[in-house]
Amino acid sequence: MPGSVSIPGMTGHAGPLSGSYSPGFLALCMIGVLSIQMVFSYMRVYLFTNVGERALADMRTDVYRRMIRMPMDFFAQRRVGELSSRISADLSQIQDVVTSVLAEILRGLLTLVIGLGLIFYISPRLSGMMLSVVPVVILLAIVFSRRIRKISRQTQDQLADSNIIVQETLQGIGNVKAFSNEWFEIRRYANSLRQAVNLAVRNGRNRGLFISFLIFSLFGTIVLVVWYGVGLMQTGHLSFGALTAFVVYTAFVGGSMAGFADLFSQVQKTLGATQRVRELLQTDPEPINTEEEPLDQQYRLNGQVTLDKIAFRYPSRQDIPVLKEVSLQVERGQQVALVGPSGAGKSTLAALLLRFYEPDSGLLTFDGRPAGEMPLSQLRKQMALVPQDILLFGGTIRENIAYGKPSASPAEIENAARKAHAHEFISGFPEGYDTVVGERGIKLSGGQRQRIAIARAILKDPVILLLDEATSSLDSASELLVQEALDNLMSNRTSFIIAHRLSTIRHADKIVVLEKGMIREVGTHEELMGMEDGLYRSLVRLQDGRDATGIRPEGPIIGFGTESQRDEGPLSGIGAGGA
Ligand SMILES: Nc1ncnc2c1ncn2[C@@H]1O[C@H](COP(=O)(O)OP(=O)(O)OP(=O)(O)O)[C@@H](O)[C@H]1O
Ligand SMILES: [Mg+2]
Repeated sequence: MPGSVSIPGMTGHAGPLSGSYSPGFLALCMIGVLSIQMVFSYMRVYLFTNVGERALADMRTDVYRRMIRMPMDFFAQRRVGELSSRISADLSQIQDVVTSVLAEILRGLLTLVIGLGLIFYISPRLSGMMLSVVPVVILLAIVFSRRIRKISRQTQDQLADSNIIVQETLQGIGNVKAFSNEWFEIRRYANSLRQAVNLAVRNGRNRGLFISFLIFSLFGTIVLVVWYGVGLMQTGHLSFGALTAFVVYTAFVGGSMAGFADLFSQVQKTLGATQRVRELLQTDPEPINTEEEPLDQQYRLNGQVTLDKIAFRYPSRQDIPVLKEVSLQVERGQQVALVGPSGAGKSTLAALLLRFYEPDSGLLTFDGRPAGEMPLSQLRKQMALVPQDILLFGGTIRENIAYGKPSASPAEIENAARKAHAHEFISGFPEGYDTVVGERGIKLSGGQRQRIAIARAILKDPVILLLDEATSSLDSASELLVQEALDNLMSNRTSFIIAHRLSTIRHADKIVVLEKGMIREVGTHEELMGMEDGLYRSLVRLQDGRDATGIRPEGPIIGFGTESQRDEGPLSGIGAGGA
C-alpha cells in the first residue's frame, strides 16, 4: 500500500550524473543520504510516539476528571467494569490514529500533490480520465466506513461487557467460590470474548473487502489509462516516454488516494470505538472544583440544618417516591437519630444531606441558607459520612485513615485511630499502620473496617456528622468503647445517627422514626416511650424482649433492620471486631 512508496522522479536523472563522479564518492553520498533518512525515520517514530502517548494520557485524564465528577446517579446506572473499559480500551484506539494515521496523512498528501501536478503537466486529458476513479473511491469509502464504524462501536461494547464480568467476578470472588461457580464464570467470560472477537473479525472482513475493491478500481483505472494512452500515442498526441511516466505517477497518486480512503476507514473505526465515551460524557458533571481548595470562611457551617417538605424519588426509579414531605429542624450540635424499617429512606436522607441527589421538591437549608447556594465541595468538606457499606481503598491503614484529611501528620492519624478504638487492633498487626488492607479492605474484619471509617471521620473533624449504621458490625464490648468515642466526637457537632439497634441511640436529642419515606414520630426516647401505641415504643419493646430472653419472637417483625441484622441479638457479633 502507500507505505512502500519511494521518491517519484528520481530514476530518470540518475543516468547522466553517474559518469562524472568516482564510485567511492557516490557510495559516500549514498551513505550520507541513508544517514539523513535514518535520522528522519528515528524522528518520525520518536516524535509521533511522543505526541501519541501524551495525547492519550491527556485524553484519559480529561475523561477521568469528568467521570469522577459525575453525579451519583450516573454511577448508579452504570457498572464500574464498563467505565474502566471505556477509559482504557476505547481510548487506546485513538492513539493508533494519532501515531500512524497522522504520519500517513502527511506523507500521502505530499505524494498526492506532487503526483497530481506531474500528471497534469504530462497530459491533462489522461489525468481527467484517471481522476474519474475518485467518485468510486469516495462512494466505497462512505459505504464501508459506515459499516466499519457501527461494528467498531459494537466491538467496544462487547469488550466492555467482558470487562464487567472480570471486574465483578474478581470483586465478588468469595461469592464465586462459595457457590463453586468458577466454571459458570469462565464460560460466561469466554462467550463474551468470543462475541467480541467475532465482531472484530467481521470488521476485519469489511476492511479487507474495502481495500480489495479499492485496489481493483485503481488498477482498473490504470488499465483504462494505458488503453486510452496507447490510443493517444498512436495519433501522435503523446510520446511513449510520457505515457510510461504518466502510468508510474498515476500509480503513486492512486496509491495515496487509496491510502487516504483506508485512513478514512481507520478514523471511522476510531470514531465508532470512542462514540460511547463521548456519549458518556454528555451528562453534566457536578459543579465540583477539581483543584484542591481550602475552606472559604463565608461558607463555614454552624451546624443548623432544616429540611422543609423534602420529597424525593431516585432519578433511575421515578415511579417510586422514597421520601414524602419530610420536614425536620435540627439545631447546632444536636444528635438526631434516624430509625425505621429497612427501606424507609434513612440512607437516602443522608445522601440528600450530602447533596448526592437534589430533592424533587422542598428545601434543604444549612444555617438558614438554601443548600443550593453553597458550592458542593465547600459543603461536603464540612461533613463526614461513615457509610453503611464501608469500602476501604486498597492501600495501607494509614492511607485509609488519612483519606479524611490528606495533610494529616502521623501523630494526628494515630490520635484519630485511638479515639475510634482502632489503635488497639492496628498496633496488633506486625506492620501496624502500614498494613495493607487488601482490595476494598478485605483483609480486615467488618468491625475493623468500621473503626477505620470512624477514625477517618474523626480526623476530618466535620461540622456535620452522618453515621449510617456505624457500629452495626461491632461486638457489644467494642461497641460500648466506640460508642463512647462517638459520643465524644458528636458532642460538639450536629450528628445524624442511623441505627437499627435502638439501645445505641437512647440518648439522642431527637429520635426521628421514618416509615415508608414519611416521618411517623419525633421526640426523645422518654417522649416516644410515653406514647401509648407508638411505633418506636413497640419496636423498643420488641428488641428489649428479644435481648432479655435471647429468643427471637415468633411471627413477623415489623421490618426493622436488614435481613441479616434483624436476626442478630446484640451479642451475636462478639468476635467480629477481632481486636
Ligand atoms: N440508587 C438507588 N436507585 C433507586 N432506588 C434506590 C436507590 N437506593 C435506594 N433505593 C430505594 O430507596 C428506598 C430507600 O432506601 P434506603 O437505602 O434509603 O433505605 P434505608 O432506610 O437506609 O434502609 P436500610 O435500613 O435497609 O439501610 C428503597 O426502597 C430502595 O430500594
Ligand atoms: Mg440504609
